[in-house]
Amino acid sequence: AKDMGPDLEKILVTEDEIKARLAELGARIDADYADRDLLIVGVLKGAVMVMADLARALHSPVSMDWMAVSSYGAGTTSSGVVRILKDLETDIKDRDVLIVEDVIDSGLTLSWLVGNLKSRGPRSVEVCTMVRKPLAFEVDLDVKYIGFDLPNEFIVGYGLDYAEKYRNLPFIGTLAPHVYEG
Ligand code: PRP
Ligand code: MN
Ligand code: MG
Repeated sequence: AKDMGPDLEKILVTEDEIKARLAELGARIDADYADRDLLIVGVLKGAVMVMADLARALHSPVSMDWMAVSSYGAGTTSSGVVRILKDLETDIKDRDVLIVEDVIDSGLTLSWLVGNLKSRGPRSVEVCTMVRKPLAFEVDLDVKYIGFDLPNEFIVGYGLDYAEKYRNLPFIGTLAPHVYEG
């Protein structure tokens, strides 16, 4: 397989910066849930990297579960109408739940997901995202733990894909135009 290097334009967040930020977020989460039995929920597939690294930045024995959701409708932007492709295996009634995402773009996926999980009677639902983009400010969504606020550019890496590729870059960056232009 070909090397990804020539497909990249610039690196926005380095591997070291991600690691340092996760250590800070991990310390906050450890403190905030010190006397709680925390369940972290990763949203497949983008959140796989941040779930794996955040979990290892925590010092308490959290539970981990996963959901897969999909926006209805065509196009590259989410419609806000979401269906569950894979549901939790955990009953979250009375549980403290922390949803973990790679990126909040329009915020529509997470607005729906927070509402869905809150309807199951959890003790609390909070959100942790590695990246937040500016559009997310236009929806009513409380995000307690944020890695990086980034501008509205098309970014890949650390879980974020372009046409299902580039998730495995260990940093976050932008793609060179030739990738889109084919
Ligand atoms: C991406 C990303 C978030 C969501 C954010 O997932 O991982 O889950 O979109 O978009 P929004 O804030 O505009 O709703 P995607 O649906 O591409 O699936 P993936 O995680 O499998 O890439
Ligand atoms: Mn996703
Ligand atoms: Mg995607």
